Order: sequence, then C-alpha cells, then structure tokens
Amino acid sequence: MNEAQARNSIIIALDMEPKEAVRLTEKLRGRAQWVKVGMTLYYSAGPSIVHELHQMGLKVFLDLKLFDIPHQVRLAAQAASEAGADLLSIHALGGTEMVKAARAGVEAAAHGGERTEILAISILTSMDQDTLSSIGIDHELTDEVRRLAKLATGAGADGMVCSPKEVHMLRELLGEDVLLVTPGVRPKGAAKGDQKRVATPQQAIADGASKLVIGRPITQAPDPAQAYEDIVGNLAR
Ligand code: C5P
Repeated sequence: MNEAQARNSIIIALDMEPKEAVRLTEKLRGRAQWVKVGMTLYYSAGPSIVHELHQMGLKVFLDLKLFDIPHQVRLAAQAASEAGADLLSIHALGGTEMVKAARAGVEAAAHGGERTEILAISILTSMDQDTLSSIGIDHELTDEVRRLAKLATGAGADGMVCSPKEVHMLRELLGEDVLLVTPGVRPKGAAKGDQKRVATPQQAIADGASKLVIGRPITQAPDPAQAYEDIVGNLAR
C-alpha cells in the first residue's frame, strides 16, 4: 500500500479524558486521518467532541456498541450520525431487526450522499467459550462469530470489528467489499499492555484487515507523532 492508504488505514484510539484527547490530537494534526471515540470519552465529552475532532480534520469512528430494541437503536444511530460519526459500532447480537434499524437510522441522517458506515461486533473478545456457556450459548465460539458476521452484513452492516485472529476467516467468509476493522495491533517491540492476542500492523493488513485500531503504542509513546509516522512508514513500504 502507498502512504496515503497507510494513513487511511490507521485509527487512533482516544481512550482518555477530553482535554488530553484534544492535546494529543493537536500533536497529530495534519498527519493522522482517523480517531476512535469510545464510550468513556463520548459520555464525558458529549457529541460536541465529534464536531471538535472534525474541525481538526479528523474522521471519527464512534465506538458506542449500540445494543437495544430496534426503535431505540434507529434513533440513536441517527443521532450519532447527525453528530458526525463516520463509522459507528453496534452489536450483532441485537439480531437482524436491530441491525436493519441502525442502518435505517444512519440513512435517515445521510446528507450529500455521505452516510455513516456501520460496523458490527460479533462476540466481544473479552468473552471465551466458558463465558458463552454461562449465558446459555453452547455453540463453538468461532461458529458463533461466523454466524453473527453473516447475519449483520446480510442485514445492512458495512463491516465487522474483529480480532487479528479472526480477520483472515472473516475476509474469506464475507468477501472483499466488507470493512474489517481490527484492534489488538502492536508494532514490533511495542508493549502488549493488556492485549493477549496481538498481530503487527503489517500482519493484520496481510490477513485482510481494512483498518487497524491502535491506541497505546501511539497515545502513550514519548513522541506520539513519531510513533504514528513509524507505523505509516512500515505499512507503506
Ligand atoms: O491501546 P490499544 O491499542 O490496546 O487500544 C485498542 C482499542 O481497541 C481500545 O479502544 C479497545 O477498547 C479496543 N478494542 C480492543 N479489543 C477488542 C475490541 C476493541 O482492544 N476486541
């Protein structure tokens, strides 16, 4: 991939309080293209943070993992889209009607042909086979991930969030047009933190990821702009 494609494929996770998020993005201004706003930042800063990040020239993945009755999800997706989310996450576990409702919500908010793209989460990677059994799901975890990925993309999701371990399987299952966004990515030599199953950025892209979510290796680096540029340089090689 070339340098522009590399920049377009890195999403920086802003898991921090609002002031620090703005300070950090100032340092990355003119370089980074995508950031991820999760529940922690969104609930403390409110929808205006999305606008503020847009003003800095960034695109925003709003990682709110919506999961509720279809009526509520439709209106929440519309509100998130109107706030300016470029990507929005929902839970596939909400079922076909809920995914369709999210799609209807972002379509209602679409303007100028631009629509918020929807990413579905299958099974949270913090859950394992035992967690599934404890909530009464006895299928094999991988089968469940595959089933939910088919359900969500069939109902109108544009893609999935998936671990580096699942990305190859989902690319084969869902084809080339689906967005696959992969967290748990660590450049060679970077601290793993609490991530257990990690892949390098190059490996995740080679396995079929469309975009990578990278947080602490950039946000906690002594020089975040340099850490970001190093990853871009490695991907663009
Ligand atoms: O700092 P780090 O690179 O580990 O950040 C990864 C981001 O991706 C965090 O915002 C985390 O919540 C998110 N994430 C993850 N693993 C998943 C899904 C999301 O690490 N399976």
